[in-house]
Formats: sequence, C-alpha cells, structure tokens
Amino acid sequence: MRVSVFGLGYVGCVSAACLAGMGHEVIGVDVNRVKVDLVNDGRAPVVEERIGELIAEVVADGALRATGDVREAIMGSEVSLICVGTPSEPNGSLCTTYLERVTEEIGAALAEKQAARQAGERSGDTGAGNTGAGNTGAAGDTEAGGAGAGDAGRGVRHTVVFRSTMLPGTCLNLLVPLLEKHVGGLAGVDIGVAVNPEFLREGTSVRDFFDPPKTVIGELDRASGDTVLELYEDLPGEVFRVPVPTAEAIKYADNAFHGLKIGFANELGAVCRALGVDSHQVMDVFLADRKLNISPAYLRPGFAFGGSCLPKDLRSLVHAAQRADVSVPILSHVLPSNSAHLERAVELVERTGSRRVGLFGLSFKPGTDDLRESPLVELAERLFGKGYELRIHDANVSLSRLLGANREYVETRLPHLAQLLADSVEEVLDHAEVCLVGTRDPAVLGALPHGGTPAIIDLVRLPDAETRRAEPGYVGLAW
Ligand SMILES: NC(=O)c1ccc[n+]([C@@H]2O[C@H](COP(=O)([O-])OP(=O)(O)OC[C@H]3O[C@@H](n4cnc5c(N)ncnc54)[C@H](O)[C@@H]3O)[C@@H](O)[C@H]2O)c1
Repeated sequence: MRVSVFGLGYVGCVSAACLAGMGHEVIGVDVNRVKVDLVNDGRAPVVEERIGELIAEVVADGALRATGDVREAIMGSEVSLICVGTPSEPNGSLCTTYLERVTEEIGAALAEKQAARQAGERSGDTGAGNTGAGNTGAAGDTEAGGAGAGDAGRGVRHTVVFRSTMLPGTCLNLLVPLLEKHVGGLAGVDIGVAVNPEFLREGTSVRDFFDPPKTVIGELDRASGDTVLELYEDLPGEVFRVPVPTAEAIKYADNAFHGLKIGFANELGAVCRALGVDSHQVMDVFLADRKLNISPAYLRPGFAFGGSCLPKDLRSLVHAAQRADVSVPILSHVLPSNSAHLERAVELVERTGSRRVGLFGLSFKPGTDDLRESPLVELAERLFGKGYELRIHDANVSLSRLLGANREYVETRLPHLAQLLADSVEEVLDHAEVCLVGTRDPAVLGALPHGGTPAIIDLVRLPDAETRRAEPGYVGLAW
C-alpha cells in the first residue's frame, strides 16, 4: 500500500520504517525540517534499538522517504497514519492542537485530491483518456505525481488512521467534523476513518511493532477497518475490531493499568522492606498465581467489593505502612475508591426521584449468606438512613438462619433488617418503584420486568443488559 505517516517522532518514525520494511511504499511527513532531512539521509531522528539500520535500509531501497509537504504526501498515498504528539496541557488535559492542525491540513489536501479525481473521472467519461488535463492537474505538481494522480484517477478512497493517543470522543466529536468540513465530504462514505492505537514501548519499539501484544482497530465503517488490517497483514497477535471510542479508551485502560501495576508493586515493596520481608520473594509467589492474581479475575466493572477479608486486610496493611512511616497513596485509596463506587449507586437511586426501593441481593457475594462488610448491606443502610422505603430479597439470606459474627454484624449495621426482608422476588417487585439488582440469581433475572416499571438499576451488568439498555427506566452502574 502507499502510506503517508504524519509525525516522525518515536511512534511515527518507527511505524514508517517498519511499514516500509514490510513492503509498503511510505512517505513520512513532519513539520520539523531536521527530522525530514535526517530520514531522507537514511538516518533515524530518534534513538531506538534497530531503528538506525532499518531506516538506512528502507531509505536506500526507496521504500521510505520524507517530506514537509502535506499535499505531496496525500497525493502519493491511499492511507495516512497520524502519529503527532498529544501532550498534557498544564492542567492535565489532553492537548489536541497538533491533531487538529494536521487533520485540517490533511482535509484540505484530500479536498484537492478528490477534485483531481472527479476531474479525472470526467475526462474519462468523455473518452478523452487519462493522460488528459484531469490527471495532470494533480500529477504535475508533485514528485510522486504519477502515484498521486493514479490514485485520484482510479477513485481509491483515502483512509485516515489516527495512531496518536486521544481520549474517547476525540475522533468522532472533534477530528471527524474537522476532516469532513475541509474535505467537503462524509467520513465513512467519501473518506475512511479509523483509530489504531499504538502499543509500542520505547526502547524495544521495532521489536514490538513486528510482534505486537495485539492490534486494535476502531473502525468508522468496515472498509476503513479492512484498510488498516491490510496494512498489518501477516503480523502476529490478536486483532480486535471495535467502535472508534472503544479503541480510544483501550489505550487509556492499558496505560492506566500499567501505571497502577508499577505503583502497586513499588508500594508493596516499600511496605515489605519496612517489615523486613523480601518483596521479590513475595511477588514471585504472587505472580505464580494465575487464577486470582495474574488473570482476568476481578477486572470486570461491576459493584463495590466487600466481605470479611478484603476491607479488613487492606485496612491493616495501610495501618502497618503508616506506622512504619511508609507512604502508600495507592493502597490507602483503595477503600475510599470502593466507597465512592458505592456512592454512585446511591446517587443513581436519588436521581430516579422514587421513594419505594427494592434491593435484590444482600450477601457480600453470590452463593453465600455472609453479610459481614457486604457492600449491599452498606448500600441498604445508606438508603434506609436516607428514608427510602426499602424491601430486600436475597434467597440465601434468612434472618432466622443467621448465626454468630454474621448475625451480630447485621444487628449492629442494619437492625431493621427483619422488617425489610421480603420472602419472594414478587413481593419486592410489587413494592418497588425502582429496583437495585445486585445479584445474578436466576430467579431474580427471570422475574425482572422490562419496560420501566419498576425502573431498574443494574449493579452487576445483567446478562441481558445490552437489550435492556435501550429500554426506558434502565440504568447500569457498569456501563
Ligand atoms: N512514545 C511512545 O512510546 C508512544 C507509545 C504509544 C503511543 N504514543 C502516542 O503517540 C503519539 C505520538 O507520540 P510520539 O512519542 O511519537 O510523539 P513525538 O513528540 O516524539 O513526535 C510527534 C511528531 O509530530 C510532529 N508534528 C507535529 N505536528 C505535525 C503536523 N501538523 N504535521 C506533521 N508532523 C507534525 C512533531 O514535529 C514530532 O516530530 C502521542 O499521542 C503519544 O501519546 C506514544
């Protein structure tokens, strides 16, 4: 494919060189003349393992060249990768200035390309032949004129692929309108648009390019996604074709998690050190647990956590750290984060304006009657305290069967439980204007009505949440 790469920084330079190495015909574009000249001299503008040799090779082969001329690059390519920087503003917000500017420039060049194509088609219609004025209009001005005019003449739809990291919504709400305005056409119809985030790590980015952890394609339409797929043909790793905002969000999920992992490991290491424990020995065993630790366990958004262990153990670990003068901001904010999540459920109830509330589920997780530190008990307590008329059903919880610490816990936290517990799902449904669903108990799922009466607040992402989402009165905490 003929590819233009906008921005020859770490990402653009590596992408351009590697795509050229895969056999594509690549033209790099940068506003920085020094970077353009370096590439054209066969030298890398960034320091990276293997990039120097690769650039020398692909430039010598004629597979990669660079320019400062946007128009030339657009005319000479059928797909453009946008790799410009998206730094932080002083207040932490994302700077989209470079993205906006390059999108406008590309849009304007694409408008010219389309005009040239239409002129080419007109001259073709009249039987004047493709060597006529229509094609030379585009071809005459550019070094890659033959290729550009060829694309224009053949009517190949140009695809713009954003690789820069940007917040969900940036592409569809900011960049696509800009592109459409300048092109004078519709994205997804006249031009292809996709978001294809970058997962390379500086230092090993050439290796990572050829062996990526995954390929994510946020596609505006199927054809845009197909173009991106074609670019990376034969590269290993799973491919995920998703809506554009999902692709944008995935990059943030990855980076936030990576930062969190490192912060967690370092805080834990600092606590271990203070307690005279070898943190690497601890982590060796921690990492060996592929069921609960290094696994998908606990990574699906849902309701708050609770139970007799997690809150208690986090509290004592943080306390031990504080006693040893070890600052652990991540660990000490886990419980507040959990409380904030519980508060979101309370707010969803408040927003309905209803007073009669049903709650399905009460124990701290399915299949147990353990109520100690159950987030649903906490939720019930909050709602009861705010004067809501509450009815609760949990098939596993019967007051008469509760014993020992479990019974004591409920008696102190929710002394009115006996009046609030309902024997059946129907009793709760008859009472409630709004139902909080905190369980996936099949008896509850089977009985939950559709259509908004009662309204449903889904705390567990119900199996039919996708359908319910379109219904009135449904709101999901984990959407
Ligand atoms: N560096 C990484 O390892 C990495 C990894 C994944 C994703 N990302 C993301 O990729 C994007 C690029 O990152 P980077 O580190 O390569 O940035 P960078 O700052 O190294 O490079 C950006 C380049 O874009 C050029 N540029 C700016 N405006 C331009 C325009 N209008 N036309 C042409 N070129 C223009 C700049 O001159 C610069 O050379 C960012 O959104 C970043 O968050 C970076």
